[in-house]
Amino acid sequence: MLVAGNWKMFKGPSETSGFLAAFEAPAGVDVVVCPPCVSLAAAVGNGVPVYAQNVHWAAEGAFTGEVSAAMLVELGVDGAVVGHSERRQLFGETDDTVARRAEAGLAAGLGVIACVGETEAEREAGETEAVLTRQVAAVPRHERLVIAYEPVWAIGTGRTATPEIAQEAHALIRSLHPTLVLYGGSVKPENAAELMTLPDVGGALVGGASLDPASFRAICEAAAAAAAAA
Ligand code: PGA
Repeated sequence: MLVAGNWKMFKGPSETSGFLAAFEAPAGVDVVVCPPCVSLAAAVGNGVPVYAQNVHWAAEGAFTGEVSAAMLVELGVDGAVVGHSERRQLFGETDDTVARRAEAGLAAGLGVIACVGETEAEREAGETEAVLTRQVAAVPRHERLVIAYEPVWAIGTGRTATPEIAQEAHALIRSLHPTLVLYGGSVKPENAAELMTLPDVGGALVGGASLDPASFRAICEAAAAAAAAA
């Protein structure tokens, strides 16, 4: 079980230090936090592994606004998220750029969380299986890579996938790519236990509810309890 807190564009260095002073990960579950780039240095060294929210494929070069895997390694960062739906929808990430970013992170020794998920329009058009199959096919296979299934319509909306929908998607993804598959999309302390006990759910990628140490801790505890019961 892995629970990752994706802070998105929240928490500068001082708020990051404050969070980590107040947060202790429970035993029995792997926990990582994903602060914004400027807060990575403040996050490293506080007992919780730290992932960046993205990583570029080149070692260095004329790529304004980007950060390389080697730079993250130099900072003591443990991994990176790639292909988050906000990157795909708002910043033009494609299956190809997601694959290149994942490969560069893995080659540098980072852990990688690669995100996949269908939009509401794709689900309503009956395209969920085709979209997930295409996105998963682009993700490299590696022991340090896990996949996060995040239905786009469930992210930041309060509309969590039903257990049936989540389990069906996770089973499909794991049949295509056997690795840990995290669920993401409006995970909260109130729904974490139900989601974490689904057979093909291997943890959570948590946005909004990871910003508060107590609510993030409650989700991590639900995952630890599900791992202990499995
Ligand atoms: P949410 O975000 O938990 O706020 O829905 C999840 C994510 O985007 O990773």
